[in-house]
Amino acid sequence: MECLPLSRGHNFSAGPAALPEAVLRRAQAELLEWGTSGASVMEVSHRGKEFMAMAEQAEADLRGLLAIPANYKVLFLQGGATQQFAQIPMNLARPEQRADYIVTGDWGEKAVREAGSLVRAQVSATSAANNYTALPPRADWDLDPASAYVHYTPNETIRGVEFHEVPDVGGVPLIADMSSTILSRRIDVSRFGLIYAGAQKNIGPSGLVVLIVREDLLERCPSTLPKIFSFAEHAAQNSLLNTPNTFGWYLAGLVFQWLKAEGGLAVIEQRNRRKAETLYDFIDTSDFYANPVDRAARSWMNVPFTLADSALDAAFLQQSRDAGLLALKGHKLVGGMRASLYNAVEQASVDALVDFMRDFARRNG
Ligand SMILES: Cc1ncc(COP(=O)(O)O)c(C=O)c1O
Repeated sequence: MECLPLSRGHNFSAGPAALPEAVLRRAQAELLEWGTSGASVMEVSHRGKEFMAMAEQAEADLRGLLAIPANYKVLFLQGGATQQFAQIPMNLARPEQRADYIVTGDWGEKAVREAGSLVRAQVSATSAANNYTALPPRADWDLDPASAYVHYTPNETIRGVEFHEVPDVGGVPLIADMSSTILSRRIDVSRFGLIYAGAQKNIGPSGLVVLIVREDLLERCPSTLPKIFSFAEHAAQNSLLNTPNTFGWYLAGLVFQWLKAEGGLAVIEQRNRRKAETLYDFIDTSDFYANPVDRAARSWMNVPFTLADSALDAAFLQQSRDAGLLALKGHKLVGGMRASLYNAVEQASVDALVDFMRDFARRNG
C-alpha cells in the first residue's frame, strides 16, 4: 500500500464524525505496539491485564468528565444507538406497560416505532406539525405518571433541534438518546434514569455504545431476556459478557483523556457555544442563507442551512469540497446543507466555513 500525502480537511460530517487530531496521532503512534503488550490493541485479549486496566481507566475518566454519581453503572456495548431503540423497552418496561416518547425529530420517530412492537409506546408530545423546527411546549406533553419511562432525544442530529434544558418529568425515569450531544457540555446525570449514545460523534468509532444507567433500574431487566440483550447481565460482567469492541473502547478512552487535557466539559461547552454562535450569527445576518429552527431550540452540534436558490446547492458543495470543507451535504430527508460542529471541530474550521460561505454568497448572490 502506498502512503498518500496528508491533507486532512475541515470535517463537518454528521457521523461518523471528526475525531481530535491528537487522538488519531496517538493511536497511529501506538498502532503496531500498544504499551508493553508487544502487539496492537486489537490483537490482545480483552481479559488481559493491559486491556482491563485501559478499560477501567476509560470508565473512570468518563465518570470524572460527566461527574457520574456512584449509583450509576457505565456500560460499553455494541450494536449502535439503534439497537438501544429495542433494548431499552425490552429491559425497562413490561410488554403491557406504557412508555412515553417525546418526538422532536427523525431519531425519536425511529425510537418510538421500534419500541411500539415491544411495549405500549406512546407519542406523548411531538413537533412533527411544525416539521421539527421547534420543541413542543412542556405544558402540552401528555405524560402518564405510571409509565415505565419517558424517552427523548436531547439533540436531533438531522434537523438540528436541541433541548438546552433537561425537561422535568416528575418521578418517571427519564431516558435520553444523547448520541449527538454527549460530552458537548456539562449535564446533571442524576436527572436521568438512563443515557445512551452511539460513539461515532463525540466519543470514537461507530459500533460502540456508551450507556449510563441508574442501578435500581437494572432490577427491572427480565430474567427471561437472552443474556446478550440484558443490561443487568452486561453490568454484572463489566461489559465483558462477550468480546467487546476493543478498538472502539480504546479510542474512546483516548478521547476522554483528550477532553480532560483540554480542561474538561466546562471548557468544551464554551468552545461549542462560540462555534455555534459564529455560524448562526453569520446565517442570521445573511439573506443568502437560512436556518429554519426556532432560536431557542437551535442545536450547538448540527447546523442545517439552506441557500436562497437551491439550484446553487451542487456548486456550493463542489466548491466547498475543493476548499477543503468536507461533508456539508444535508441529510437526504431535509436537503440543503448541514455543518456538524462536534467537539473535535475547531473554531478555525468554523471560521473557514463562514469565510467560504461569505465569499460564495458574494459571488452568487
Ligand atoms: C440522535 C441519534 N440517535 C441514533 C442514531 C443511530 O445511531 P447508530 O447508527 O449508531 O445506530 C443516530 C445516528 O446518527 C443519531 O444521531
